[in-house]
Amino acid sequence: MSNDGPRKLETCDDTCPDTAIIGRAKAVKLRRPKFDFKTFTPHWARNREFAQALNAGSPIPTCIEPYLNQVMRRAADTLGPAYSRLRQDITLFIGQETAHYQMHARYDEAMATNGYPRVREFAAQMKATYQRFLTAKSLKFNLAYCAGFETFSQAYAYYFYEAIDDLFAGADDTTAAKVWHWHLAEEFEHRSVCHEAAKALHCGYAARLYGLVYAFFHLSVQTKRILHYLLEVDRARMSAQEIADSRRSERRYQRRASLYLLPRILRMALPFYDPRRQRTPRGLDAYLQRIEQEFAS
Ligand SMILES: [Fe+2]
Ligand SMILES: [Fe+2]
Repeated sequence: MSNDGPRKLETCDDTCPDTAIIGRAKAVKLRRPKFDFKTFTPHWARNREFAQALNAGSPIPTCIEPYLNQVMRRAADTLGPAYSRLRQDITLFIGQETAHYQMHARYDEAMATNGYPRVREFAAQMKATYQRFLTAKSLKFNLAYCAGFETFSQAYAYYFYEAIDDLFAGADDTTAAKVWHWHLAEEFEHRSVCHEAAKALHCGYAARLYGLVYAFFHLSVQTKRILHYLLEVDRARMSAQEIADSRRSERRYQRRASLYLLPRILRMALPFYDPRRQRTPRGLDAYLQRIEQEFAS
């Protein structure tokens, strides 16, 4: 396969194909919503600790998704002629991930310029880690890591669409909510691509399970470090009582998220997990239709 196709997609310009069918799943589309961060405020939700938990997650796709694209480009170059369909899927995957990490880079910059400049430092550290993975680790490791990340991202798609409407309600600014809903909807759309590429390149169940566990703990540590920093900045301006309330709110939110996400991630770690057979989260298709209408050019 020529390297030119995926590299063009990296810029997500008009050379991108717009749709494809991934496996037995629905059509996957490239969308380029024009969310802007002009009205963005870091404390965009009524529950500040919830807002900061999501803000702390934004540098993860900014850094991991360019790496995903590089790994999948290597996979596409390695796949034999029998996998032309999967290579097409990878091309579309790269187009979606490119739009995601570009949007999250803007999100991170909005955080950095609104009182949290060390977000840039955390992102630089993560990018260096992924560069090291690309240089020092095998394709099998990188595929397993990517497939693991893509797998547990599905649990977040259900979480955002089905479990936390109350936390999004009454937000001062809806930019972050829109970005995350769009992103996770497209993660759901292309959920089978890394999994299929890993399987096609002899990355068996044990390796994929290792990749899922490794990616989950690796990214949990990164997210916790960023969240700790964001809340430390917030708490520097709080009274002792406000700090105690904030800590209580953070613990309550983390418990709620873990209780929802962990059982689902464990189910996705089972050997018979097939991403193509997962039901669509409620409201996901309707949300994507709204996005397409809102940003129809
Ligand atoms: Fe993504
Ligand atoms: Fe993805």
